[in-house]
Amino acid sequence: MPNAFISGTGFYVPPRRVTNDQLRTEFGIDTTHDWILQRTGIEERRFADEGVATSDLALHASEAALRKAGLRAHDLDMIIFATLSPDHCFPGSGVYLQQKLGLCDGPNARFVPAMDVRNQCSGFLYSLGTATAMIQSGACKHVLVVGAEVHSAALDLTTRGRAVSSLFGDGAGAVVVSATDEDRGVRTWKLGADGRFAGALAQKIFDISKRPFIPNDAQGVGQVAPEMMWATLDGRLVFKHAVERMITGLMEVCLRHGCSGNDIDLFVFHQANLRINQYIQNQLAIPDHKIVHNIERYGNTTSATIPILLAEAEESGRLQRGMKVAMVAFGSGFTWGAAIVDW
Ligand code: ACO
Repeated sequence: MPNAFISGTGFYVPPRRVTNDQLRTEFGIDTTHDWILQRTGIEERRFADEGVATSDLALHASEAALRKAGLRAHDLDMIIFATLSPDHCFPGSGVYLQQKLGLCDGPNARFVPAMDVRNQCSGFLYSLGTATAMIQSGACKHVLVVGAEVHSAALDLTTRGRAVSSLFGDGAGAVVVSATDEDRGVRTWKLGADGRFAGALAQKIFDISKRPFIPNDAQGVGQVAPEMMWATLDGRLVFKHAVERMITGLMEVCLRHGCSGNDIDLFVFHQANLRINQYIQNQLAIPDHKIVHNIERYGNTTSATIPILLAEAEESGRLQRGMKVAMVAFGSGFTWGAAIVDW
């Protein structure tokens, strides 16, 4: 059975920076820099301009990851696209990305499978697990895994929505997962979900059990009520479960892999709240130099967070060949995932 290793990483964030102060001055949200910074660690986030789709951000990140891997898009056997902010309701964003990568053009078109994963903050690790299984089964040699989000278009950027809208930012991260006979790569991964908490963090928009699925006004025009239109969040419940699941997720993958926390060279945590991650770090006595974070610059970029962190860590030299990396994420669903990778 081949091993599945990460042969390339890449990321892209849109250029427009939005500071905590700008949420107040530009959008009129009743908030302060200190409130957001103290509770979450976020200082600024990136917002894509109007006209930029999630698959556009994904394209930049994917091209960077392919370059790093020394591959062309035509070498790919599969695309896995994790997002909670797809370009449209359907089809999935994977097919838009396939087209933008040029895979559908000309006589050498590569109509590889394109799969969307809808597992929010755990989406990247669900996708990495799936890519690993595809590689190890022998079905694929190179799988593109991309996490990308344009949150800014779907945030309630008013005081009513501040509890959610101050947390999220836009961005994309990608990795290429490739087959190798070398003794390296994804060692173990573990995924989980607890549907009892499906309502704790959700953005419903429509209800398919209703006729019509979006209520119409007298003119037959769809009217989405604010509580359906915008994400709702039980922040304290998410915080409590995130801490528990991320700690146990890390311990489970270490146990499966037969290593201890001390053997891990780099911890890559999902970035929902710096306070969540600091709590986990303290509980597990992880030294600062073994942790990367970027929530202060990007906010929560959901499925893009972990691949952005990996790409940044490689770029800065903090992540190097031979290191043992632990990743963990938790999010809406509730869903969670953890993995150990020998880089
Ligand atoms: N600025 C100013 N005041 C605010 C803001 C803001 N941006 N947001 C909320 N408030 C207010 C609330 O309206 C509330 O006011 P009230 O008491 O008058 O009603 C008060 O601050 C306290 O609100 P809480 O929601 O109770 O604040 P809390 O201390 O729980 O912090 C937070 C909220 C930061 C979301 C926290 O619960 C948290 O980090 N939760 C986990 C992370 C999370 O849920 N992330 C979402 C993504 S999920 C994931 O990726 C895992």
